[in-house]
Amino acid sequence: MIVSNWKMNGSQSHLEQWIKDVSSNINYKTEVPCVFCPPACYLDSSRQIINQISSKLRLGSQVIDYSQNNALTGGISAEILGDFIVEYVLIGHSEQREHFKEDNSILRLKLNSANKAKISTIFCIGESEELKINDQTKTFLKTQLEILTSEDLGHLTIAYEPIWAIGTGLNAEKNYIEEVHGYIKEQCQLLLDIKENISVLYGGSVNLDNCEEILSLNNVDGLLVGGASLDSDTFSKIYNNS
Ligand code: 13P
Repeated sequence: MIVSNWKMNGSQSHLEQWIKDVSSNINYKTEVPCVFCPPACYLDSSRQIINQISSKLRLGSQVIDYSQNNALTGGISAEILGDFIVEYVLIGHSEQREHFKEDNSILRLKLNSANKAKISTIFCIGESEELKINDQTKTFLKTQLEILTSEDLGHLTIAYEPIWAIGTGLNAEKNYIEEVHGYIKEQCQLLLDIKENISVLYGGSVNLDNCEEILSLNNVDGLLVGGASLDSDTFSKIYNNS
């Protein structure tokens, strides 16, 4: 799976051109979903354009709220996402953990909402620079993974995004990525009592120069791309390298 996370970027005109360009430039492979996560206010027009041009792009949301209570100003429920045929949702992104103070209990409720609406979750985890320096990456990732349950199986992808690599231009060493992804897969097997591997995407300053090498790693099953995905040509080329 190759995912574009636009974060809080873009405009209506950028969006229209981007969807058209990516849809015509990618050599689409059924086994590699190409997922577009625009800001929530663009989900409606994204869905319309995708349908109009019969694009192979799959739509993902950057947000989902867990509340069953409809008095939540600014909230976006799984039911609302369903109107735009949103197939994926990002949960646990480090920017939301930090700025919106999302902790494990909130994230668990969000996972429940996505599960109930049959929206596939891309569950983001990653350690800070300080934890990495103190050799605490694995212990920390384990605490982030521990909220997963067998209810999440069947529609769960993990995205490993070391916080220190997001938007910084810094890349994790390939041995480090391989080792951490291997650990995540192992932990998922233990926690969820499964034999098969959960797909693990890598994210954090992925670009055209490093995507091929990262994708060639055995334990990397795809990419979650932020800044570099805003350019349709770059993102299409990243997808075509997969
Ligand atoms: P960048 O690719 O801009 O580093 O962002 C990564 C990310 O956070 C994607 O979710």
